[in-house]
Amino acid sequence: MKAFQMLFVLLLAAAAEGQSLHFGKCPRPPVQQDFNVAKYMGTWYEIEKLPSLFEKGTCNQATYSLLSDGTVKVLNAELLSNGKINSIEGVAKVKNSTQPAILDVSFFKGVPDSPYWVLSTDYQSYSLVYSCTDYYGSFHIDFAWILARTRLLNKEVVSQLHDELVSAGVNINNLLVSDQAGCEQSKAKINERPIIGILTQNSRYLPPNSKGYIASSYVKFLESGGARVVPIMVNREAEEYKRLFNSINGILLPGGAANITSSGYQRASKIFYELAIEANKRGDYFPVWGTCLGYEQLTVLTSGKKLLTRTNTNGMSLPLLFTKEAKQSRMFKSFPAELMEALASEPLTENSHKWSVSVLSHNTNKDLKNFYKNRVCVNRGSIRLPDLWDTVAPGEESVMSTFYTAHFFVNEARKNFHTFESKEEERSALIYNYNPVHSPPNSGFEQKYIF
Ligand SMILES: *[C@@H]1O[C@H](CO)[C@@H](O)[C@H](O)[C@H]1NC(C)=O
Ligand SMILES: *[C@@H]1O[C@H](CO)[C@@H](O)[C@H](O)[C@H]1NC(C)=O
Repeated sequence: MKAFQMLFVLLLAAAAEGQSLHFGKCPRPPVQQDFNVAKYMGTWYEIEKLPSLFEKGTCNQATYSLLSDGTVKVLNAELLSNGKINSIEGVAKVKNSTQPAILDVSFFKGVPDSPYWVLSTDYQSYSLVYSCTDYYGSFHIDFAWILARTRLLNKEVVSQLHDELVSAGVNINNLLVSDQAGCEQSKAKINERPIIGILTQNSRYLPPNSKGYIASSYVKFLESGGARVVPIMVNREAEEYKRLFNSINGILLPGGAANITSSGYQRASKIFYELAIEANKRGDYFPVWGTCLGYEQLTVLTSGKKLLTRTNTNGMSLPLLFTKEAKQSRMFKSFPAELMEALASEPLTENSHKWSVSVLSHNTNKDLKNFYKNRVCVNRGSIRLPDLWDTVAPGEESVMSTFYTAHFFVNEARKNFHTFESKEEERSALIYNYNPVHSPPNSGFEQKYIF
């Protein structure tokens, strides 16, 4: 009974995954004569395969290397849709030296080895691999791969290998063609050196001749996620902003107290916002981030209205209230589950707001509702930057939330490929050209860049 149930579950699982399942025992097709494992080493690209549950990406490839004990190190890699490489390492062994083309591969400890039979190979262009496992002596599941030294294999060779599979008893109608298109370019699909602009703002608390400031915590925030920072000065020519837009990979509109309907902050935000929308329409991915005032500024730019509600949450720590849609948020998906629980139940976010955009405004203003997904923290919360040491020291979970948030935004900026026209221009734009200063007590931010 137990065995039957187990078999039934296995059958269901295999059928659901679209694997090749057959009644009867595994066939025993002939293998490559005088197989030379050393000549087989190196990289092989997957051309076709019988569906396998372990592979979900594209650009699948396997790299084999001979280890000193005669076993083979296996490194399988594929490209996932998010641009990341998924790889897995295993070891292959010849079971019986009289049959060197019959190997066993193991990827995880405790999981049974899988057979790896090299049915035929010329070592330098193609290889045909078969793997079959018997279950309870009554059915079997098999896999097959057509591999090649290049990402494209001659059609005649493929058709010859199909014939070999047919005579081995494999149903070639189930073979899937592997996607090896654009694999070389996609290696460069991530910008390894993202640079993000942070908008400065004026404040009446700055020294008389100052042109603006940035709280250092915003710079550290982006640096913790792997980006470098360029300050964006207010009150510059639109042409200068346009040039800068084409040089950076994202923009952060920070919190503060600038006027969001009429100020240098508002004007620069509007220019970058409009350039970003235009660029994104062309497929030039350019992320825009707003924290606190920056977020309020974005809602004004989107709706053409100032939809703020008086809020008095000064120096308050609050938990976040997640909407139902939060589960679909790409940002929150990247947060560990424990952290999400902590954010929802503990007062981890810093709130120093005189104004807020209420859920009601979000839901009733058509422009906001159509443009933004209010998946997020509805509780007037903003992710705490490790800055307000005066009020309350950020605990570990706050620091982690900040990190995951930064990591998400910087990764978005990695999808943009704007660059400065020269290394010199990049060098002179970076925030490293300026020194932050320690602020006097109770001035809101512990450390600032004053320009
Ligand atoms: C290896 O294969 C040969 C030939 O099939 C067989 O005689 C021998 O017993 C096998 N050795 C082991 C260790 O299984
Ligand atoms: C922002 O600037 C406009 C135009 O100068 C002014 O009418 C408005 O009162 C200012 N808003 C705030 C909050 O100071």
